Amino acid sequence: MRGTVFRGPYDVGLRDLPVPRVEDARDAVVRVTASAICGTDLHPYRGELPGFGVGTVLGHEFVGVVEDAGDEVAHLTGRRVVASDLVACGRCRTCRRGWHYQCAEVTLFGYSTVVGRPLDGGQADYVKVPFADVVLAACPDELTDEQALFTGDVLATGYIAAERADIPLGGTVAVIGAGTVGLLAGMCAEAGGAASVILADPSPTRRAAAERCGFTAVSPEQLAATVAGASEGGGAQSVIEAVGSDAALGLAVETAAPRGTVVAVGAHHSQAAPFDSGRAFGRELTLRFAVGDPIAVWPELFALLKAGRVDPAAVISHRLPLAEVARAYRLFDRREATKVVLVCGDVAG
Ligand SMILES: NC(=O)c1ccc[n+]([C@@H]2O[C@H](COP(=O)([O-])OP(=O)(O)OC[C@H]3O[C@@H](n4cnc5c(N)ncnc54)[C@H](O)[C@@H]3O)[C@@H](O)[C@H]2O)c1
Ligand SMILES: [Zn+2]
Ligand SMILES: [Zn+2]
Repeated sequence: MRGTVFRGPYDVGLRDLPVPRVEDARDAVVRVTASAICGTDLHPYRGELPGFGVGTVLGHEFVGVVEDAGDEVAHLTGRRVVASDLVACGRCRTCRRGWHYQCAEVTLFGYSTVVGRPLDGGQADYVKVPFADVVLAACPDELTDEQALFTGDVLATGYIAAERADIPLGGTVAVIGAGTVGLLAGMCAEAGGAASVILADPSPTRRAAAERCGFTAVSPEQLAATVAGASEGGGAQSVIEAVGSDAALGLAVETAAPRGTVVAVGAHHSQAAPFDSGRAFGRELTLRFAVGDPIAVWPELFALLKAGRVDPAAVISHRLPLAEVARAYRLFDRREATKVVLVCGDVAG
């Protein structure tokens, strides 16, 4: 089978690999029909994570069909499924609280040892899924593969960002970063009652994508004035940071209104707090970090999609065969693509 392998910064490509096999009673082997590239994949691609394992099979967003399953998850065989990007046991105390990212067994597909033990990813023809009773969800019949694909990471992340941002009913929300995570967070903020969502991004193509989704989109330099205009000078009561850089977190804190809430869902790896803590204190801000947890919010996401209240497929700019994965990474890295879906087999449209 083919799998997308990290060979070093700016160097990914397909390699011929053995098809994974069920080894544990809770394992399932999924034949991937579609996968996606995420901003999280760009961190190793751009060399921002020194020590990321050469040879890692990449990819944590995928849908497919269960080909084989261990005894405890045999009922999943033949089901159309979406995987959670994060893997957790589902049985420990933290999992039972619904805090899957805090599970002692937590890891991410295709992410070397950044989060937990290495686990081959899903930008491949087949992938092995541990704890499949927890990590896989059956795709509801009403949803297409593409809609379901988003629930395994980025829609869960956008949803949790909005949920934890204390969205003001009828108020103004600022989102830093108009990648897929920012766009989906904006959609969820609107579904949660925000009257005005303003996205800031330095990239003109990403601003154009945001405008196509119906948002106001500005450069980071224009954000303060635009938010002030939309809120009669009051500022943004909720700010969602969806970039994962020091500059973006700094801008998020700068943009929040007094007693506002800032939620950072961009992935951060700094040792220091890269924002104006004097301003955060002076404005009595609430600052939260949040990780999307598909396992915890699948029922809500499926309901949102079935009701047509969010349309994540609107952010897909490219559908490419897995064979073109190297080009897909290049397009995504240069922001010539907003979201790339890699098609492996027959995708239920
Ligand atoms: N917390 C989670 O669970 C979770 C889940 C998925 C992704 N992520 C993280 O979210 C971030 C975004 O993911 P994505 O898939 O949307 O990535 P992406 O790379 O497609 O989008 C990031 C966007 O941020 C913009 N940007 C860069 N610097 C900026 C700045 N200073 N101000 C405003 N915008 C700026 C870029 O132009 C780009 O459009 C990444 O860090 C990713 O790792 C976190
Ligand atoms: Zn992702
Ligand atoms: Zn656990």
